[in-house]
Amino acid sequence: MTWREYHEATKHTVESLRRAPHSLDWANMPNPFRHYEGVPVLDLSADPPAPDAPALEVLRGVSGLTPAREGATFLSQLLFYSAAISASKCVSSTGYRYALRVNPSSGNLHPTEFHFRTRRMKEWPDGLYHYRPSTHMAEQRALGDVEMKSGGSSAPLVFVLTTITWREAWKYGDRAYRYCLHDIGHAWQALALAAQAIGCDSFAAGYFPDDEVAQLCRLADDEAPMLLVELRSASIPVHESYACETVWYGGQANQLSAEKADYAWIDRIHAATKLSNCPYPEILAAEPTPTGCGEIKLPPPASSIRAFGEVARLRRSALDFLGGTRSMSLTQLSAILATASQRLFADFAGAPFMQLYLYAHRVDGLQPGVYRHWPRSAELEQVKNGDQRVMAAGLSLGQELAGNACVAFSMVGDLDRAARAHGDRGYRYVHFEAGAIGHRLYLAAEALGLGATGIGSFYDEEVHRYLNLAPQQQVVYHFAIGYPVPDARVRG
Ligand SMILES: Cc1cc2nc3c(=O)[nH]c(=O)nc-3n(C[C@H](O)[C@H](O)[C@H](O)COP(=O)(O)O)c2cc1C
Repeated sequence: MTWREYHEATKHTVESLRRAPHSLDWANMPNPFRHYEGVPVLDLSADPPAPDAPALEVLRGVSGLTPAREGATFLSQLLFYSAAISASKCVSSTGYRYALRVNPSSGNLHPTEFHFRTRRMKEWPDGLYHYRPSTHMAEQRALGDVEMKSGGSSAPLVFVLTTITWREAWKYGDRAYRYCLHDIGHAWQALALAAQAIGCDSFAAGYFPDDEVAQLCRLADDEAPMLLVELRSASIPVHESYACETVWYGGQANQLSAEKADYAWIDRIHAATKLSNCPYPEILAAEPTPTGCGEIKLPPPASSIRAFGEVARLRRSALDFLGGTRSMSLTQLSAILATASQRLFADFAGAPFMQLYLYAHRVDGLQPGVYRHWPRSAELEQVKNGDQRVMAAGLSLGQELAGNACVAFSMVGDLDRAARAHGDRGYRYVHFEAGAIGHRLYLAAEALGLGATGIGSFYDEEVHRYLNLAPQQQVVYHFAIGYPVPDARVRG
């Protein structure tokens, strides 16, 4: 099977939605919290110092500083601003309260788990850990020097982001693999930006032997490694000597639901995108990203002094946006697009695969219409004019938030170019990039006093036709930004 077959098979059409009506087995809903039980659990400092660098500056690539002097505070700060619980929401009919996290997730199902390997961090034992967001603690799965792949990294801190596809498939069926990949992209940027806000560089590797990493990290059978993220910087508090002997605790992974259904397309695309042998570190030069220009030059971006820490923790997905007449400014849009187009640091991110199409509904100085963004020249090219509200909502599976927003987006990826550079593995990379851009959109919108929502469901072919895309282009993610309808059920 190839990425193309999976992608075609999981496109939404009116017909496919009618054939697979939406019914959820609530009794079997997977637990969104994984625990590795029976291992030592280490506290991460409560209430770590908030990164106070302005969020928009961080999104533009400026580094902040950390006052952390030892490992537990540094790790606590990093995870509190990238992966921790940040709010809760109440189901009004039952009073049941559930957790929301710093990183967003389709359906709030959170398929992504954060594992990390530490070396020589001050007052923190070397080892392999799994982050437990439910209590903001670290499960110590091994103590000592652990390799996560042959010829592994010497960095003091390396994360392994894994996915549990069943969590998403429970709700979204075979299309869920796409959402798991988006989620990894969001989690990666949440981590990379929190790291940068506390003065750390990060670099992500998508190219690694999957089974070897899963075995060396002794991952549970339902977890698959997706991205390795290495953190390096003088701001990571380290000491000189190594701990030597390795002791494995491993731990028993909790069962997430009573039963687990199989999804054949997910098994196949996962197998097709796996690598078994990665003899050389890959920084492949993909064919360059096409360039173009538009007739509208974007103005200098709006600024904001809101601190990264506050923005990261207050970020929420809007359930809907205030339709009305209130618009956003072109300078705000310019700031959002500038942060979305920043370079990503990963072995697959040399030449971006993504292009943004905008459905502008209410942006001052921009006629309603569809525009293509050309990041290098900071220009917009108008490809359609006229009111797009009904169309944007309709293409997003009738979700009104895409029409009530000030601006909605189609992220369009060149999956063929990705496959020419990376084979089927490229399918993962395009979705990681889309999720990463989505995360930057969320934070930029929040920094500017707006709200945002990622939209994973859209009618693929209709978008393709409407935007008159070339055959090699595929829509991979939708997004909306505007003024959120207040949600009284959320508590910070
Ligand atoms: C990949 C992805 C796809 C999503 N798709 C939709 C969607 O189609 N419609 C929607 O209303 N929200 C969507 N969301 C938003 C999630 O429902 C939201 O992130 C989740 O409920 C958690 O809330 P929070 O973002 O406020 O933490 C999506 C989020 C992600 C990351």
